[in-house]
Amino acid sequence: MIKTAIFPVAGRGTRLRPVTLCVPKELLPVYTTPLLQFAIDEARDAGIERFVFVTSADKPAIEHYVRTCHPGIDARFVEQAAPLGLGHAVLSGRAAARDGEEVEQPVAVILPDDLIFATVPVLAQMARAYDPALCQHMVAAMKVRPEDTASYGILDSDMPAPGRQIAVRGLVEKPSPSDAPSNLAVVGRYILHPTIFETLMTTGRGAGGEIQLTDAIQRDVQRLGVGAFRFEGIRYDCGQPDGLLEAASALQDVRDMVRTGSAA
Ligand code: G1P
Repeated sequence: MIKTAIFPVAGRGTRLRPVTLCVPKELLPVYTTPLLQFAIDEARDAGIERFVFVTSADKPAIEHYVRTCHPGIDARFVEQAAPLGLGHAVLSGRAAARDGEEVEQPVAVILPDDLIFATVPVLAQMARAYDPALCQHMVAAMKVRPEDTASYGILDSDMPAPGRQIAVRGLVEKPSPSDAPSNLAVVGRYILHPTIFETLMTTGRGAGGEIQLTDAIQRDVQRLGVGAFRFEGIRYDCGQPDGLLEAASALQDVRDMVRTGSAA
């Protein structure tokens, strides 16, 4: 049912400088595999057929990678004209995502720097649980340390059981710990009702002076219902060096287990 995914890949990777001055963060390897490759694999596993990459003119290597490694997929490249935030990036993908379809379908959004290792890939977990009769926007959610709320979209919601979703009362982008309604955070997987684009068009700048996807979803809470999906898996913040290293180390452990036949 969910056929289109938007990949916001225009970010400047400031937390990973200097390498990101010449290599897009999405092409940095975890062990030997670029972050973007994990995101494409996850999307394919969830049944995605149309891949919309919202990129920037100074990152031509992204298109080069996709065209070279995935010549057969329906890949569309859209330029985000200005770095105005995640909401703006998703809105920039609107025309490519829609393509004049008569019946509009929900759209997935995948942030490649949120790398999640899971037995069942997270977008597939979400697609399986997505039920528009319950909630029309769904966000992946995980518990974070209370002192880290200012790095995430934070949910006003009860904590769902792993593998389950629960209704969201509200969302706040990057609140300080004292203002955070919980320590349940949004991570970079979304299944969104297609009218998110209309909501984004009238969403003003929020935290950091950027147009925030979190704010647009918050505005749709009453109209559409929003679900927090607590995925099963381990997430690595590969937008920063320690996360990249930890993810690579986890892959190395798996490789070693396979090689030695141990189930340690
Ligand atoms: C973005 C979103 C935020 C979300 C986070 C997950 O923030 O704006 O709501 O919690 O991704 O990684 P960013 O990390 O791009 O600043």
